[in-house]
Amino acid sequence: MAYTVPKLKDWSAKALDKAGAKLLAALEQESTAVKNKADWKTFRDRWIGRKNGVLTQINDLWLKAAPKDAKRDVGQRVNEIKQQVTAGVEATAFPEGQVNPRIAGEGRSVLSRPASRGVGTVTAALDISLPGNRRALGAEHPIIKTMNEIVSVFRNLGYSVEEGPEIETDYYNFEALNFPPNHPARDTQDTLFIANQESKPLRDRLLLRTHTSPVQIRSMEKMKPPVRVVCPGKVHRNDAPDATHSPIFHQVEGLAVDTNITFCDLKGTLDHAMKALFGSSVKTRFYPSYFPFTEPSADVQISCIFCGGTGYRDGGRCPNCKASGWIELLGCGMVDPNVYRFVDYDARKVSGFAFGMGVERIAILKYGVDDIQLFFNGDARFLEQFG
Ligand code: PHE
Repeated sequence: MAYTVPKLKDWSAKALDKAGAKLLAALEQESTAVKNKADWKTFRDRWIGRKNGVLTQINDLWLKAAPKDAKRDVGQRVNEIKQQVTAGVEATAFPEGQVNPRIAGEGRSVLSRPASRGVGTVTAALDISLPGNRRALGAEHPIIKTMNEIVSVFRNLGYSVEEGPEIETDYYNFEALNFPPNHPARDTQDTLFIANQESKPLRDRLLLRTHTSPVQIRSMEKMKPPVRVVCPGKVHRNDAPDATHSPIFHQVEGLAVDTNITFCDLKGTLDHAMKALFGSSVKTRFYPSYFPFTEPSADVQISCIFCGGTGYRDGGRCPNCKASGWIELLGCGMVDPNVYRFVDYDARKVSGFAFGMGVERIAILKYGVDDIQLFFNGDARFLEQFG
């Protein structure tokens, strides 16, 4: 006899379980009679059709009719039944021309467990023998991974981590770093300025920081020497994206200020860091350079990790170092005494060094990536390789 939804008189958990179990048993039984698509449509409408499907009926006869104090509980159970019925109806659907998997004996019960086990638990709707929906595991982004690696090299040397805002003032990004207004060194930074700031004094105007060096100033404002900080973060420059440029990239800044810090300390620290990052056979060399906030300044080069510093490999010129044997990696120098004036440090008493390195550049070398855009395109095929 075809199943009809009964009216309920007893709203106890036990009675509900029983009624639910009956309903699901009926679903189970009727599902086996489905032999073709037309059958399935009738079956579907009977059970989940909006107008007068069984689900609509239990909503009216069980839930709406329930006494106030039982509503919560009944609602929960009715919801569970709804989920199971919907899943059961879906599990019975099959492509035209195929046999109902349920009848062919290939499939299992449209319900996962015999209905008589009760419907009180949601797990009843789970068929643990079905392949699950695999949820892809996330992986740390290669830039974050590299950044963490760099930071941990310095943490091991006793540095602490400081951060600063990505939207900076002209003062922190330039002025306090000894880039006077209109100084040509500002041009090297391809700055993205925030619009409509002209009414403010220059030092208060906002821009997207072009480097992490402003965090040097913020750290020195916050703490007295001795200072040893690393400052990882995102920076922005007005560069068109291509294989080697990106308007957004990342840097890790470092700053050490104390009494008697010398260029030797800078060299030793960075030589150690490069060996920690690229392997102990890597050599470093310091090449004269210019930054307004360091004096003297240097670019650090490492011996080419692709050709071992020889400039040649695979019977030809090494394309990575353009046969020079060296790869330029970061900027550094001794903190310019002018900078200390902005943060109330006594330049006669303290000295220090600073360095800044591009995280993408280091990741590109470490992982042999040939296009910086890969880091930003969000293509899982690339990113999952770092999982
Ligand atoms: N901030 C510089 C840049 O982005 C790098 C740097 C940092 C140089 C610290 C010296 C000292 O180009």
